[in-house]
Amino acid sequence: MVKQGAIILAAGKGTRMNSKLPKVLHKINGLPMADHVIRALAKCHLDQTVMVVGHEGELVQEVFGDRVDYAVQREQLGTGHAIMCALPILRHDIDVIMVVCGDTPLLTGNSLLKMLQSFYNSDASCMVLTAKLPNPTGYGRIIRGEEEQVVAIIEEKDASVTEKRVSEINTGTYCFKVADLKEALEHLNNENAAGEYYLTDTISYLCKRGKVVAGQLLQDYHEILGVNNRVQMAQAVEILRRRKCEELMLKGVTIVDPNRVYIEQDVEVDIDTIIEPNVQLKGKTKIGKDCFIGADTELIDSTVGEDCQIKKSVLWETEVCDHVNIGPFAYLRPGSVIEATAKIGDFVEIKNSHIGVGSKVPHLSYIGDATVGEKVNIGCGTITCNYDGKKKHPTVIQDGAFIGSNSNLVAPVEVGHNAFVAAGSTVTKNVPDNALAVARGRQYLKEDWVKEK
Ligand code: UD1
Ligand code: CA
Repeated sequence: MVKQGAIILAAGKGTRMNSKLPKVLHKINGLPMADHVIRALAKCHLDQTVMVVGHEGELVQEVFGDRVDYAVQREQLGTGHAIMCALPILRHDIDVIMVVCGDTPLLTGNSLLKMLQSFYNSDASCMVLTAKLPNPTGYGRIIRGEEEQVVAIIEEKDASVTEKRVSEINTGTYCFKVADLKEALEHLNNENAAGEYYLTDTISYLCKRGKVVAGQLLQDYHEILGVNNRVQMAQAVEILRRRKCEELMLKGVTIVDPNRVYIEQDVEVDIDTIIEPNVQLKGKTKIGKDCFIGADTELIDSTVGEDCQIKKSVLWETEVCDHVNIGPFAYLRPGSVIEATAKIGDFVEIKNSHIGVGSKVPHLSYIGDATVGEKVNIGCGTITCNYDGKKKHPTVIQDGAFIGSNSNLVAPVEVGHNAFVAAGSTVTKNVPDNALAVARGRQYLKEDWVKEK
């Protein structure tokens, strides 16, 4: 069995990003740029992936952890030099190696797999993934010989006027037979306009040695968009955003206006859910079937069950069960769990609280650090006073309790089963099961006070 690996080039500083963050860590649709590349490579079932890091290398290693092996390129002397730095880390039994750049997040696993398969079906020493661009400026140009084989790649800086007219470019993605690559690297020099060791010079070397170099043309050139600055980063986001919307729509999700939603890479949405304009679904968000996600809603790392209605609300690290109704204008913060058929209405903030089956918090409430049982009704304007200035304290409301409007529950405090809190109360002591708590000034009347005044 042939053993196959990959090298991801990611040592460059990304000068044109003008950022303290290394380029490959900038997020594109919720994932660091190079994460997209690692995932695409995963489709090829490789025996080893080595990432070449340099600038802020420790930070990059922290982010990707043990998903890849690392080689360090201390000085960025060119793409050929980067490969030389990776070779000592490469397992000795690897015969075929793919080379990809860490800054091409749009390249799909399918395209990489296709190239790898064509490579095995050819007798080439090297296969270059190429693309035809409407504007090839900036890329290395592919020079083909009489039999269509690739004979050289000429960098923009070194290209003649005629060579610059070639529209077929090097995507920076290759397959190599490791033995041939090693030999070619030994003969590499930096006698070029950039003074760098170009990986692309291995191609002309191999040709001169009588080896075959093949070029595989990429169908959709958009895939090779390299991200060198933040304008290109936004272009990449746009393409991935569109891809994600299309994937979901084809699966059975209705996206009312796919030009105006932002759905990150790992988000899952089940069939017959409707997503209105300006919705943002981020991180590890998961939505069940038959939901309605109304305009302007933002979900971050949250899960939503089936048949839920969420309107103009923000949910963050929140778990919502089936048949729940939320919003408009609700804010659900980390650690919140909303059980089935519950209702969270307008201008309600819930933080780190459990709301039981069928319970209702319909308007203008703050519920923090609370455990609310089943079928509880929390009247308009209720506040759990969970903070004493130093510490947060819990509130417990048992099944069937009724909290009258505009009540304050001063934590730590517990309201028992089926207990009743009169409207306007400030509850500071536990309320036993089935009791009525009235904790407010008694109303008194002065007849005809206005007339006599
Ligand atoms: C390179 C190719 C060019 C191709 C283009 C496609 C060479 C000489 N040129 O040019 O033919 O059209 O990619 O996008 O290979 N890197 C290192 N160490 C280095 C230099 C670069 O790790 O010393 C990494 C960068 O971080 C980046 C990748 O290699 O991820 C490509 O480097 P970059 O400088 O962007 O090369 P291009 O000039 O775009
Ligand atoms: Ca580049």
